[in-house]
Amino acid sequence: MKKMQIAPSILSCDYGKIAEELEKMEKSGADIIHVDVMDGHFVPNITLGAPVVKCIRKYSSLPFDVHLMITDPIDYVEDFINAGADSITIHLECDSDIEKTLSLIKEKGCKAAVSVKPKTPAEAVFDYLDKVSMVLVMTVEPGFGGQSFMEDMMPKVKKIKEEIDRRGLDVSIQVDGGIGEKTIAKAASNGADIFVSGNALFKAENTAEAIKTFKALAAEAYPEK
Ligand code: DX5
Ligand code: ZN
Repeated sequence: MKKMQIAPSILSCDYGKIAEELEKMEKSGADIIHVDVMDGHFVPNITLGAPVVKCIRKYSSLPFDVHLMITDPIDYVEDFINAGADSITIHLECDSDIEKTLSLIKEKGCKAAVSVKPKTPAEAVFDYLDKVSMVLVMTVEPGFGGQSFMEDMMPKVKKIKEEIDRRGLDVSIQVDGGIGEKTIAKAASNGADIFVSGNALFKAENTAEAIKTFKALAAEAYPEK
């Protein structure tokens, strides 16, 4: 059975206490650390760059999944890999050559993934399914944490999952935006297996309980047992 993985998005953490926040997530059973990189151009918000990733890398032994919401990822992927990224996600809507960027990420020994914003259809990722280890379906417009889950993205998740299965590929589907107790089962039932969660996890009273509940709800709803 596919493992249901929880990826806290540090966009919602207290950056002043980042070491503690990362340690807490690891102790609480998180599987992956999701790092949102925004350039103020591809999305209307600015977060952090490779030097910050390098500094915080030492506070966690979990894989670092870097979500690049930037216009020209090809110019920066090497910096993020050198800073300790284990996987890098680029947006199909960016300006870089997608094939070249994915090849560069993989050449440097990192996992590569593609992401689609809400208005981009499922079919847009089909050409890349054999070149990535993960597809990220945004369930909010990228740019900010704390937005509401877009349930109308579920047919897109389902379509991508069906295509992955039809071709017998081993590609994970990640969902990002508004994931919490009320939404995770919906996403899992349509075929998502990696769940990014910012606000719901960083604001939870008991993080370990929240992660445990998330995993149980996802496993229960996932189509393949
Ligand atoms: C949005 C980011 C998300 C965001 C998720 O552009 O990609 O990772 O932090 O936060 P929540 O779970 O609060 O919607
Ligand atoms: Zn993200």
